Amino acid sequence: MNFEILPSFLAADLGHLADDLLRAEASGADAIHLDIMDPTFVPNMSFGPSIVDFCRKTAPNFYRNVHLMMNRPDLYLEKFANAGAQTIQIHVEADCDLHTELKRIRALGCKAAIVLNPETPVEILTSYLGEIDEALVMTVHPGYGGQSFIADCLPKVTWLRERCPTLDIMIDGGGNAETIPLAAKAGANQFVAGLYLFKQSDMKAAVADLRCRLKA
Ligand code: DX5
Ligand code: ZN
Repeated sequence: MNFEILPSFLAADLGHLADDLLRAEASGADAIHLDIMDPTFVPNMSFGPSIVDFCRKTAPNFYRNVHLMMNRPDLYLEKFANAGAQTIQIHVEADCDLHTELKRIRALGCKAAIVLNPETPVEILTSYLGEIDEALVMTVHPGYGGQSFIADCLPKVTWLRERCPTLDIMIDGGGNAETIPLAAKAGANQFVAGLYLFKQSDMKAAVADLRCRLKA
């Protein structure tokens, strides 16, 4: 299984967005993770489709993984796909018909992913497993970067890996040099890290170090 590392753009310096995006790309990370927040779904706001478009224009070859923390992602799928989203992740807790929306994401030419909050039981994903390219298990309560990793979420990763040996399984929240190897052991192969990577003076060395730990 291919291990992928995704810096979360939420942790970038607002005064240096282009530099930080190019720094993340040059680090050897696999994709940029873009956190889109609807304040009725999480207790915060972040950015919208224009940031996805900014990433496409600034670093066209850096893959864009778009995490929609929204109650009604169905109202925005075209906007994000047109802005350059390549994978679109929607929450199982969202207020829309997920079977329909996962199909629409694929019809828009994107990979379709489903996301699970820490308090949501993983079994709820059973009927979607044949319809997704990726599953994202949240390892923090969504809304803010820089929170502590919730290791209790890892059995959900293992549950998914046992049923889906080739599915891309991502963790998001509190990822760092200690927690990412734990998630890999549980069965994840894609790892978001926000604060941990952007605070590094040498992001390339930190990504290389993570890859070494994943191989060990
Ligand atoms: C949380 C976001 C995460 C967050 C990760 O709402 O979905 O992607 O930016 O940031 P860190 O790695 O700092 O917890
Ligand atoms: Zn995220």
